[in-house]
Amino acid sequence: MQALISSVLLLASILKICTSSESDWCYQTQVECGSSSCKGPDVWHEVNEQCSKSRQSPINIVTKKTKLNHLLTPLKFTGYQEAFRSTLKNNGHSVTITVPHVATVSEGNLLNTYRAVQFHFHWGKDGGPGSEHTVDGEQYPMEMHIVHMRQDFKNLDAALGDPTGVAVLGFFYEESASSNRKYDGFIEALKNVVESGSNTTIDGISLSNLIPSEGNMTNYYRYSGSLTTPSCTEAVVWTVFENPIPLSHDQLSAFSKLKFHGGKSMVKTFRPVQPRKGRVVYRSGSSVLLASFTLLLLCVTSALGLSQFN
Ligand SMILES: *[C@@H]1O[C@H](CO)[C@@H](O)[C@H](O)[C@H]1NC(C)=O
Ligand SMILES: *[C@@H]1O[C@H](CO)[C@@H](O)[C@H](O)[C@H]1NC(C)=O
Ligand SMILES: [Zn+2]
Repeated sequence: MQALISSVLLLASILKICTSSESDWCYQTQVECGSSSCKGPDVWHEVNEQCSKSRQSPINIVTKKTKLNHLLTPLKFTGYQEAFRSTLKNNGHSVTITVPHVATVSEGNLLNTYRAVQFHFHWGKDGGPGSEHTVDGEQYPMEMHIVHMRQDFKNLDAALGDPTGVAVLGFFYEESASSNRKYDGFIEALKNVVESGSNTTIDGISLSNLIPSEGNMTNYYRYSGSLTTPSCTEAVVWTVFENPIPLSHDQLSAFSKLKFHGGKSMVKTFRPVQPRKGRVVYRSGSSVLLASFTLLLLCVTSALGLSQFN
């Protein structure tokens, strides 16, 4: 009897902890019955009701359902080449870098010029699945978001009040056999921000060094969505690039050595994909498709030409 009562009490206390309503949001991997009581992605709407609205991000991109849009020409970047010095910070959810100089993105049907504010990452565990967007169900090991605000706004908060106030560029990563030397300095600096709330100075990095070469950025997806963390504000024009950035297994694993607020390993820092809810995902005109189409046209015309002479 005594044992029964104490096990009922134990069960009750576990249930109580599991359903307790602590305020801060967290990722699913941090939601652990009995030890943490933060709010995981399933209940982010309790943190901010916008998280349950109808144009949420990330999404799974179903390539067969994307619509080709010829207005999605290559983006124009300014200030991306410029080397800068900034603060790298572990904010307890991710690692973020403030962009201190003027760097902009425009064209590609963006309808305005957007200024880079900060960039950050979402990753898995030791190079395992970790991107936020997925393509035909495939989750890449990591994703970088370069957050831009429309240049006519004073700050990011003001831009978030407009349905097209923010433009985020999303880049996937893939595991490569050799390490990516362009990332050496940045990944080395991660060692200085292991603890939640810590920061370090990084010098001599440029945005163009972190992203693919221009020739590898012509293929991308575009849709209307939201921030992928609370407040989940629906103010984002999303551009998700098709070609991933290569990093070695060790380079990808370096991110898993960071720690969340609370001391757990910072891993699986992604929000699960959200319902598309009738939104159309557009894709840029693929030069590869165009080339094969031209080839096909040539074949058809020459075949027709041949048959005429037969
Ligand atoms: C970086 O950390 C120091 C203390 O460790 C703190 O004084 C400073 O405000 C932090 N800077 C940023 C940008 O968070
Ligand atoms: C695209 O990237 C690959 C390797 O990631 C590289 O070999 C190729 O030269 C790049 N293409 C262009 C057009 O930059
Ligand atoms: Zn993000």
